[in-house]
Amino acid sequence: MSDITMNEVLTQELVEKKYNLHLSKINDALGKCFSKQSPLTLYAPAKYILEGNGKRIRPFLTLLASEAVCGSSEDALKVALAVEILHNFTLIHDDIMDQAELRHGRPTVHKKWNTNAAILSGDMMIAYAYELALQSKSKRHSELVHILNDANITICEGQALDMELEERHDATIADYIDMIAKKTGRLISAALEAGGVAGNATDEQLRSLVLFGEKIGRAFQIQDDYLDIMAENGKSGKMAGGDIINGKKTYLLLRSLELTTGTERDLLHSIIVNKGIGAERVPEVKAIYERCGVLEETASLINRTTEEALTAIEGLPYAEGREHLQGFASMLMKRDF
Ligand code: IPE
Ligand code: IPE
Ligand code: MG
Ligand code: MG
Ligand code: MG
Repeated sequence: MSDITMNEVLTQELVEKKYNLHLSKINDALGKCFSKQSPLTLYAPAKYILEGNGKRIRPFLTLLASEAVCGSSEDALKVALAVEILHNFTLIHDDIMDQAELRHGRPTVHKKWNTNAAILSGDMMIAYAYELALQSKSKRHSELVHILNDANITICEGQALDMELEERHDATIADYIDMIAKKTGRLISAALEAGGVAGNATDEQLRSLVLFGEKIGRAFQIQDDYLDIMAENGKSGKMAGGDIINGKKTYLLLRSLELTTGTERDLLHSIIVNKGIGAERVPEVKAIYERCGVLEETASLINRTTEEALTAIEGLPYAEGREHLQGFASMLMKRDF
């Protein structure tokens, strides 16, 4: 084993240790949220989605960002919870929009309850998230609210663009990159930015955290698209091939339209024209992806984008937080769920 590989293994172990440590802190605190019993159809869905096995990527980033700028994450926990609750609100509403039946391997909120309960619980979670952010010790509450607002509005823009792309036959990869920056990238960069503010970061430090977040957010969504079809059965906790069935304009679909010809391209094009394809044909599409080289290209794009992220935060002052941010970004790049 070369030195480089040894270092990577060591880093991954350390990052996992830190991740698990923070994960239990985050999950314990989330477990105390939404404990009001009535109205049950309002609070139970919020509790339910938070009890799913979400990866807690965003709140972990919030805590690490604080550590990277001030050496401690003590005052960032409430902000981290706010970000995770905001994220889970977006999941509930996204599953309605995507007509998804499974999340975290369990029925989605609108399937277990109904669409109205899912809308309403999601709405309540937004306000709950802001309340938590305002309870944090920071003296920079208005900045925190501004960041959460910007993230919230930007996610809505991204989700609107995602829907508009579904209707368009001329979507380009540039359209896709813009859309994912908004629907996914901004909440990830906001998680880092808010963690930075909680740690009393300078403007320059916030800019580098945001840039890091934009890069890993892009890599993360491209990988989410990849795993939609390539994750081992059941591992993603979502329906395999859901994006293809629903005719989503993913990186894989848009890029493989450029890489294929003839009947293969015709089949991919039909997904766009018909806004989806029967579930029984997902294996055919997967076979095309496997043949046309899009999977290798996607993997190298994810790698490249993650590498760019790592350099963005080289200047952050506290090595412990900074190196764990870099280590976690590398770990995310290799995730298979
Ligand atoms: C899912 O995010 C939504 C996307 C932006 C792709 P995650 O994959 O982080 O969801 P959980 O919280 O771990 O379930
Ligand atoms: C997620 O995009 C975006 C938001 C939740 C805002 P997806 O629709 O790809 O997310 P998954 O795959 O359902 O988690
Ligand atoms: Mg979805
Ligand atoms: Mg969606
Ligand atoms: Mg997805």
